[in-house]
Amino acid sequence: MCGIVGYIGTQQAYPILIKGLHRLEYRGYDSAGVSLINKSGALTVYKAKGKVDDLEAVCADKDISGTIGIAHTRWATHGEPNEANAHPHYSQSHNLALVHNGIIENYKPLRSMMERSGISFCSDTDTEVLVQLVEYMQNSHKCDLFTAVQLALKNVVGAYAIAIIEKSHPDRIVCARKGSPLIIGVGKDKNDRAEFFIGSDATPIVEYTDQVVYLGDEEIASLDRTGKLQITNLNNVKQTPQLVKLQMSLDQLEKGGYPHFMLKEIWEQPDALRICIKGRVSNLNSKVTLSGIIDHKDKFLNCRRIIICACGTSWHASLIGKYFIEEACHLPVEVEYASEFRYRNPVINADDVVIAVSQSGETADTLAAIQLAKEHHAFVYGICNVIGSSISRATDSGTYLHVGPEIGVASTKAFTGQVITLCLLGLAIAQEKKTLNDKMLNMLVNELQQIPDKMQWTLEHNKDISQFAQMFTYCKNFIYLGRGYNYPVALEGALKLKEISYIHAEGYPAAEMKHGPIALIDEEMPVVVIAPKRGMYDKIVSNIQEIKSRHGKIISVVTEGDVTVKEMSDFSFVIPDTRDCYVPLLAVIPLQLLSYYVAVAKGRNVDQPRNLAKSVTVE
Ligand code: G6P
Repeated sequence: MCGIVGYIGTQQAYPILIKGLHRLEYRGYDSAGVSLINKSGALTVYKAKGKVDDLEAVCADKDISGTIGIAHTRWATHGEPNEANAHPHYSQSHNLALVHNGIIENYKPLRSMMERSGISFCSDTDTEVLVQLVEYMQNSHKCDLFTAVQLALKNVVGAYAIAIIEKSHPDRIVCARKGSPLIIGVGKDKNDRAEFFIGSDATPIVEYTDQVVYLGDEEIASLDRTGKLQITNLNNVKQTPQLVKLQMSLDQLEKGGYPHFMLKEIWEQPDALRICIKGRVSNLNSKVTLSGIIDHKDKFLNCRRIIICACGTSWHASLIGKYFIEEACHLPVEVEYASEFRYRNPVINADDVVIAVSQSGETADTLAAIQLAKEHHAFVYGICNVIGSSISRATDSGTYLHVGPEIGVASTKAFTGQVITLCLLGLAIAQEKKTLNDKMLNMLVNELQQIPDKMQWTLEHNKDISQFAQMFTYCKNFIYLGRGYNYPVALEGALKLKEISYIHAEGYPAAEMKHGPIALIDEEMPVVVIAPKRGMYDKIVSNIQEIKSRHGKIISVVTEGDVTVKEMSDFSFVIPDTRDCYVPLLAVIPLQLLSYYVAVAKGRNVDQPRNLAKSVTVE
């Protein structure tokens, strides 16, 4: 969480920084700030509580000139979201300004130590401790900024991505990272003069250059206006910068005519999944090939158990993956909240495969779970969307979703991308282990390839949810029910509604309803039931009856042509028929649309819901 941008070169930094902050706003948006050094050497810091637009308003009548600068958009951890706690933070002498993403765990003793030596603090943040510590090191060791940053970071416990500028040396930015992401863009202006960009991800950089360096953990970089890029580790051992070409285009970061990124991303799903499947399934022999497992087949064939670690929506997708892999591969699969797994001394064996599922590839708890799995010598496989992300680099092997950047904070296309990738993984293992006969394997592979078209159909046939959603804006609670493969869909539908409309919603396995939630049902309670004409259809019909006799309002997701459930429902959304295991990929679409349109009708900020961030880089 929190987004960092930086620029040094020949162009005016402010417009680049502000544009970059807008792109990173999904990472946090409770306050923002910018720091610049102008031509006459003045180092300014401007901050605002609220969004980047609020910062722009503050800066409207200020001197925003300068060809070097750093900026930040915040998701508060230490200290409430106000102007004083917003970044950048000055050092005591105002010679340094620093932005930070992460948490400094030992900030209290460090702060006390510095307070005892006469340094005073202006904020409640852990970040201010960092900038003061750097200056403290400069003063006590009489060293330059780069060395002072090395020394300061050696005393720090926690996670950080930082960028720092110095009034007395306006020709360089020093940045560093551990645990939180930081990317350096290496570019040239139109006159071929060097310039550097910094971003928490590639989105603020892609417009200017496709050449980037992913800074490694505990690495410090100096970006010099002359084009010199120097990287060392904390022990001052020189590291060679590895230039990588970005695989991202600018259009992917625009709304493309949609009012919100979330709606764009919902509608992008058929195409995104076509790309995700493409090249991984042979039309000739229905063979599934995931490059990430080619060299590691034995790990999957010989493992006794798979453990999937994830958070949020990725956890829901993982649960569907569990059902699929267990059914197709006859392998036990456990799905763990990464945040629980990392702290509870789980049993991890060297012959376990641990799969980390994460859209951003930066979730701190999932990264820590990987670390734990590695300490126990398990084979670790990553399923991420963001190319080059920390998780994709920390795992032994893995598969990218290839669904394109997801900007809306509420995850949509990454969810379906994760589900389909886990299905592809299950099919690839099943074909090697021969746990499915050829007929079944071919049928599952062929049906999987139909899913993007069926998703398109689902989107086209559920357009009118926008009018229907208005009726539910008054609701205080929702229940979502599903069975089997659709239980995780119920969880995901409820999460989507909570996240963006702030209506309380619970997802439940339908049969569990009678063990508690049924007490909540009255004529005011909408109950969303995922009831495809497959699997446990008759059972779910009985569950619907139980709700109806208590006057609950039934909103159902039914298979095209269904009559029974439709007649029992107050409202129905229709999906095409598919295999049980693929129903989640279609059933989730009307639920995504429902939450989107309810949130829009309630006037919520759909792409940036309150208190949330897309990339949770703190535990
Ligand atoms: C945050 C996001 C969710 C996401 C979760 C896990 O809570 O708002 O949309 O599902 O983090 O993120 P990851 O990037 O690991 O999938």
